[in-house]
Amino acid sequence: MISAHPKLTINAAFLQEIKDDNLRLYGLLDQLRACWLVNDPDVFRPEWFTELICDLRDQIAMHFALENAFGYFEKPLTSDPLLSAEAQRLLDQHEELYLQICSIAEGAEALLYPEIDEAGYSRQVDLFREFYKAFQAHESAEFDLMMNVCLKQQKENRPLVSSDQEAGFCGR
Ligand SMILES: [Fe+2]
Repeated sequence: MISAHPKLTINAAFLQEIKDDNLRLYGLLDQLRACWLVNDPDVFRPEWFTELICDLRDQIAMHFALENAFGYFEKPLTSDPLLSAEAQRLLDQHEELYLQICSIAEGAEALLYPEIDEAGYSRQVDLFREFYKAFQAHESAEFDLMMNVCLKQQKENRPLVSSDQEAGFCGR
C-alpha cells in the first residue's frame, strides 16, 4: 500500500558503494551457485556447503545492516510516493531474506550430525537456489530504485536527501 505520507527514500550513492565494496558476499554467492549446478554430495561435500552457507549468512547480516544504516533514510527533502513505497518494500525484504538464509544455514548445520544426511543436503541446496533467486531479484529491484531516484533527482535538479545527511550524488 502506498502511504499518504511517504517518508522513506535511499541514498543511491551510498547504496551503490556498499554493493561495490562487498566482494566477499558476491564471491560466496558464486561459489554456492556451483552447488546447485552440480547438486551431488560426492562432488561438493555437505561440510563445504555448510561452511559457505554460514559464512554467507554472516555476510548478508553485515550487508543489510550497512544498507539499512547508510542506504535508506527517512525525512527526505522531497519525496515521491511510488519511490517511497518501493523503498519501504525493499527495506522490509532485508529482514525476510535474512530470516530465509538463517533458516537454510541452520538446516545445513543440522545435516552434519549425527551423520551426514545426503538427501537433506539436496533439499538445503534447493532452498539455497530459491534464496539466491530472491536475493538477485531484490538486488535488481534496488538497482532500478537507485536509477529512478537518480533520474528524479536530476529532473528536479536537487538532491533527494534529508537535511541531516550529506548530499548524495548519482554519478561518481
Ligand atoms: Fe538491499
